[in-house]
Amino acid sequence: MTALVEFAGLGRTFGSGPQAVVAIHDAMGAIEQDDRIALVGRSGSGKSTLLWLVAGLDTPTHGTISWPALGRPKGDPFLVGTVFQVPSLVPTLTAVENVALPLLLHGVAERDAFATADAALERIDLAAVARQLPDELSGGQAQRVAVARVLATRPRLLLADEPTGRIDRHAAREVLDALRATADEVGAGLVVASHDPLVYDTLPQRWTISDGRVAVTGALR
Ligand SMILES: Nc1ncnc2c1ncn2[C@@H]1O[C@H](COP(=O)(O)OP(=O)(O)O)[C@@H](O)[C@H]1O
Ligand SMILES: [Mg+2]
Repeated sequence: MTALVEFAGLGRTFGSGPQAVVAIHDAMGAIEQDDRIALVGRSGSGKSTLLWLVAGLDTPTHGTISWPALGRPKGDPFLVGTVFQVPSLVPTLTAVENVALPLLLHGVAERDAFATADAALERIDLAAVARQLPDELSGGQAQRVAVARVLATRPRLLLADEPTGRIDRHAAREVLDALRATADEVGAGLVVASHDPLVYDTLPQRWTISDGRVAVTGALR
């Protein structure tokens, strides 16, 4: 299988001289379509930095990274879908408008974009809140709208950064289930960065990161 992402000797240092922070140190790995990875580490260990590099949204200071199956994904929501700790929904748009937005921005006709967005919300059991604004949603619902927005663009790789950081356990489980179901449905690789045990108990593979050093452990599948 062609890897979605491959990296070797990967490093990211912020700043220079005595103030330099080595956020990622000499990491090697690959992500494939059927990978379901929990990226586990304490706060400040380098999880977000690694995800941004993998997404093609940041440039490494050392080593190489490539996207053999994707070209260079830089910010393309049809290649890499992202879900962050804060749902990043546009506050003045309803749930369905938020889900349709990336499609509309990429030239999908309005009627098709809204049909796709409605179907994605329905798939994640959110049809009832489709016409609500983000501040009328619970934290868990807002996160699942962000997952529906990913589902609508059917990316090849799905990256989530602390998606359960601000919601209760029940909602966290629903968000993780939605992420995994979305990855399965569209055939995308999935990486979820978190220090939440629920995340690494739920996903079959584990990458542990500590002080910027990544170790591939717990590959249970
Ligand atoms: N833009 C930045 N400028 C300087 N240091 C940064 C920047 N982003 C992250 N860092 C540092 O890199 C390290 C890893 O950060 P981060 O990847 O955000 O960790 P995590 O997501 O695991 O909490 C931390 O020491 C953090 O302070
Ligand atoms: Mg982080």
